[in-house]
Amino acid sequence: MNILLIGSGGREHAFAWKIKQSDLCSQLFIAPGNAGTSSLGTNVAIATTDFESLAALCVEQNIGIVLVGPEEPLVKGIYDFFKNRKDTQKIGVIGPSQAAAQLEGSKAFAKAFMHRHQVPTAAYQEFTVDNYAKGIDYIKGHALPIVLKADGLAAGKGVIICQNHLEALSEYELMIHRAKFGEAGKRVVVEEFLTGIELSVFVLTDGENYVLLPEAKDYKRIGIGDTGLNTGGMGAVSPVPFADDAFLQKVKERIIEPTLAGLKKDKLVYKGFIFFGLMNNEGEPGVIEYNCRMGDPETEAVMPRIKNDLVQLLIATSQQRLNEIVIETDERSVATVVAVSGGYPGDYEKGKVILGLGGNILEDSIVFQCGTKHEEEHIVTNGGRVLTVTSFGNTIAEAAEQSNYMLEQLYFDDIYFRTDIGYEFR
Ligand code: AMP
Ligand code: GLY
Repeated sequence: MNILLIGSGGREHAFAWKIKQSDLCSQLFIAPGNAGTSSLGTNVAIATTDFESLAALCVEQNIGIVLVGPEEPLVKGIYDFFKNRKDTQKIGVIGPSQAAAQLEGSKAFAKAFMHRHQVPTAAYQEFTVDNYAKGIDYIKGHALPIVLKADGLAAGKGVIICQNHLEALSEYELMIHRAKFGEAGKRVVVEEFLTGIELSVFVLTDGENYVLLPEAKDYKRIGIGDTGLNTGGMGAVSPVPFADDAFLQKVKERIIEPTLAGLKKDKLVYKGFIFFGLMNNEGEPGVIEYNCRMGDPETEAVMPRIKNDLVQLLIATSQQRLNEIVIETDERSVATVVAVSGGYPGDYEKGKVILGLGGNILEDSIVFQCGTKHEEEHIVTNGGRVLTVTSFGNTIAEAAEQSNYMLEQLYFDDIYFRTDIGYEFR
C-alpha cells in the first residue's frame, strides 16, 4: 500500500521511521516533510492545508492511507474534504472529522463536551464580548491562580495562568477587546487551576474500538527544572513511573471510555489518535486538554516503544478492526531530548549547517529530525526545534544520559537542549 504522511516535524520523522519498518508499505510520501523524512520516503512540496493538491497527489500515486500529523489540517477539515470527494472517498484518512477535531480546535467546545459527558476536568465558564461584564465578576470572585484560555488554535500560546486578579482581568480584557489571540480567541474559557503532575495518554480509535498506546510525560518549558517560557516541547519520557495499572484503569474508565462514548453519542466521526493531556492529582486523573493528533516530541518517545506494525494499526483503524489488535510494548524506558536553535521559543536563525548526522549513532538511540532541510550538500536548520534524540535504557536516567551523550556528538551554531529531561524520575 502507498501511504501519504502529512507534516514536517520530528513527529512525522518518527512516524515515517515506524512506517518504513512495515512490509505493508510500498511507497511512502511525506508532504512537505523535512531532511530526515527524505531518507525514508519521497518528500512532496505541498502545504499541509492545500487539500486540493494533497488529494490530487493521492489519486496520482494511488494512496491507500493518509496519516495526518499536525492539528491544523484536521481542524480545517481534511478528513471531510477527502470523504466528500468521489476520487478520494475510499482512502483511509487517519484523523478526526472537522467537527470532532473541535476537541482541540476550540477550548470552549472541548469543555462543553467534557461537561456534557461527565469527563473529569477543571470547573469553568466561557465568556465573549456579549457577557463580558459577567466574566469580570466571575474572575474577581475566582480562587487563585486563574487559568485563561483563548478559544481556537493558538500554536500552544493561548493559555495564561494568572497569579493575581489584576493580571487575570487585564489579560481577559486583552483577549476579548483587543483580540490578543486573534478573532477566535475573543471567546475565553476561565477555569480552575488543577494541581498535580501532568502526563499524556494516547489512544488510537476507529470510532468503535480503541487501543491504548504507551503514555508519556513531556517537558514544555525551555529551561532546566521546568523554568522559563513554554515551548512546543523540549523532551519526553515513557513510560511514566506514576502511571501504574491502577491509575491507567481510572483513566480508561473515567476519561477515555466516556470520551469515546460521547463522540459516538454526539455523532462526531473520529478515526485517529486522541491525545489526552491529563493531570494526576494524588492518583485521580482529570483532563487539561484534548489534542486531536499525536504529540511532538511525544511521538518520538512513543513510536519506538510500540512493537506492533504501525501500518497494520492504521489499516485496522480505517477498517474499524482495532478490536483485533493487541498493543505490544518494549518494556524499557525511553528518554527523548530535543535540540533547539538558540533564541527559541522567541526569534531564532535558520539555515545553520548541522554537523555530525553522518556519524556513529549508538545502538539504542535514534536521531529524528524536526526543522531541517537540505541545502546544497548540507543539512541545515529550518525551524526552532531542530533535532530529537530518543534513547532506550533500563531506567529513565540511563536513557536520558544516552540521549544527552548522542546530542553532544551533533552540532549547529547555538544549539541548546535541556540536560535534565526526566529529572523527577532519575
Ligand atoms: P494547553 O495549551 O491547554 O496545553 O495548556 C498549556 C499548559 O497550561 C498545560 O500543559 C498545563 O501545564 C497548563 N494548564 C492548562 N490548563 C490548566 C489548568 N486548568 N490547571 C493547571 N494547569 C493548566
Ligand atoms: N508536545 C505537546 C504537543 O504536541 O501538543
